[in-house]
Amino acid sequence: MRWYRANGRHDLPWRLTRDPYAVLVSEVMLQQTQVDRVKPYFVDWMERWPDAASLADAEPAEVIRAWAGLGYNRRALNLHRAAVKVTDRFEGRVPTDEDTLKTLPGIGPYTAAAVHCFAGERRTPVLDTNTGRVIARARLGAADMRTAGDRRTREAASELLPSRGARDWNLALMDLGAMVCTARKPACDRCPLRNGCAWLLAGSPVAEGAGAAAVRFEETARFARGRIVDALRERDAMETLEIADLLPGAHAANVDTYLGGLERDGLIERLPGTERSWRLPGKATGR
Ligand code: ADE
Repeated sequence: MRWYRANGRHDLPWRLTRDPYAVLVSEVMLQQTQVDRVKPYFVDWMERWPDAASLADAEPAEVIRAWAGLGYNRRALNLHRAAVKVTDRFEGRVPTDEDTLKTLPGIGPYTAAAVHCFAGERRTPVLDTNTGRVIARARLGAADMRTAGDRRTREAASELLPSRGARDWNLALMDLGAMVCTARKPACDRCPLRNGCAWLLAGSPVAEGAGAAAVRFEETARFARGRIVDALRERDAMETLEIADLLPGAHAANVDTYLGGLERDGLIERLPGTERSWRLPGKATGR
């Protein structure tokens, strides 16, 4: 904790608030996007939609457009759906209870724990890849949470959690994981835990399954789906054939599959009265 007080990222905008809605927005953005990238999006978002009711009132298409550049667009849609549910069921107040949070769209165990702890200031472990890696290494001598086992890591995290100050504790683990105990090149020489670290003692073993052949991002369905949503952000509507034309290489042949998947997820819809014309979803979705 001494290391955290001196070195932690205390001025991140979402750490200066205890508003559960603001914390939820930040955590959903941070799920798969880097801190530096999230910062301006978070600030703009809070100006535009300062509470759940204002977000619930927006059109899904607007919300998906505001998400441009963050990636994993389903998060935007789920955040909007969560705001609608909070407005309809909880009088516009985002809950801070972990179990209630998990009933909201797109909120899994990680995000529920984060809002419970960071906004509600309640005692619960907040395990993500960073905090999980610190605990897996320092306590269990494994390279990461996957190698140590999710369950063992979770148990170790619960045991270590202090009886007071869980919020700062979890934030300290996050910062240590992001700034010192990093996945690839940990800076063990400046780590406050270096003297008792089980992973250093074990000779810094590498992660299991490390180096598995990676698929090029451009070849994934996620890439193609992202391209389609990007194109529709720029236009009111597009035909299937136009969309196929802008997909590179082998993706064009799968355009119907991608469109069907995006439609099922609620990220796009057919222009009313047409079969093969598409747009970002209007107000009806999510209500
Ligand atoms: N502060 C609170 N939550 C965070 C997160 N998910 N990543 C980085 N800093 C945070």
